[in-house]
Amino acid sequence: MKDLVLVTGGTGYIGSHTAVELIEGGYDVVIVDNLDNSTLETLDGIEKITGIRPAFEKFDLCDKDRVSQFFIKYPQLKAIIHFAAHKAVGESVEKPLKYYHNNLSSLINLIHFMDRHNVDNLVFSSSCTVYGQPRELPVTESAPTLPAESPYGNTKQICEEIICDSMRALPKLKSIALRYFNPIGAHPTGHIGELPMGVPNNLVPFITQTAAGIHQSLKVYGSDYNTPDGSAIRDYINVNDLARAHVVAISRLLNKENRSNYEFFNLGTGTGTSVLEMIRTFHKVTGISINYKIVDRREGDIEKVWADTRFANEELGWKATRTLEETLSSAWNWEKNLRGIK
Ligand code: NAD
Ligand code: WQD
Repeated sequence: MKDLVLVTGGTGYIGSHTAVELIEGGYDVVIVDNLDNSTLETLDGIEKITGIRPAFEKFDLCDKDRVSQFFIKYPQLKAIIHFAAHKAVGESVEKPLKYYHNNLSSLINLIHFMDRHNVDNLVFSSSCTVYGQPRELPVTESAPTLPAESPYGNTKQICEEIICDSMRALPKLKSIALRYFNPIGAHPTGHIGELPMGVPNNLVPFITQTAAGIHQSLKVYGSDYNTPDGSAIRDYINVNDLARAHVVAISRLLNKENRSNYEFFNLGTGTGTSVLEMIRTFHKVTGISINYKIVDRREGDIEKVWADTRFANEELGWKATRTLEETLSSAWNWEKNLRGIK
């Protein structure tokens, strides 16, 4: 019998790619999402790719009664990957309670019922934002976490602390937090990808929307950073590579290969790329020149960050393999599919 994995936020961007990897990796998947930042069509995309439509339950994970009913309905559940969260950094500054309530309550409810129903395994979506601007690069897992720049970032730090404390108090439970660097791209089929609501804040969706003619030009935030071309540097990781890491993490937990009952790993490529290099690479792979304007730095942005991937490579046994070229090409392919561009 296949092991059943709950993917919370599974109709969202990273969750949907992970659902595909899980199904292809031989797991049964049930998705819980309240469709706050995604649509049901994602299930069609997952089905087109895998031939399987995962079970779907629409509800808010902050609703404790609904979470309780869910655990009763799926007694065979083996593990949870918790993606569901609000993630817009700017909005979190305007509406901090929305972020603290959603991101913390959903996690607390899940851990509460995991303990009651003997579901022992949890993988949590964390972020490199917990490191702030690290003193040393590449950033390793032993780098200190710094005070968060935003309520969103703070929810990731607090969630990690909630998990760490809960694992100490409930030693039969096991958890892995995965600290993502900058996930980008889409599934190579173009059936699923990122669906930003409104004007995107993130670089790659803004680039692809500009290429599609939705925006006149891209603002490059800052050209006076201490980097070779003056623009900020990030570690952009292909979303399918990232998704595969979750399958590895689930298998590590189910096969009891973990060293302690709370572990955390950086998920990046180990290579930093500047904003201007991203624009150039997009041009190289698509032939499209993005109109851009250099403007002031964006408040709260750090100068540069990229991952030390050795711990994930050696201990988790996972490595990002896709090139930036193929990743940007997949992002463009997805945008074209969305807009009906040939
Ligand atoms: P997303 O918004 O596409 O997906 C999140 C999904 O969770 C959405 O479908 C939303 O409807 C759902 N959701 C939110 N709150 C919910 C609730 N209370 N109950 C049920 N469903 C709920 O986001 P994503 O980019 O796929 O991010 C997934 C996770 O990864 C998030 O936890 C995010 O903070 C984290 N993360 C994302 C990035 C990134 O750049 N995308 C980077 C680091 C970490
Ligand atoms: C990347 C680079 C911008 C848009 C954010 C969150 C982080 C995580 C990932 C969720 C930066 C520059 C961007 C634009 C630009 N999210 N940029 N023009 O800021 O590294 O990380 O998303 O967990 O927590 O903070 O990603 O894609 O917004 O920006 O010049 O229109 O592109 O300044 O240097 P960021 P991003």
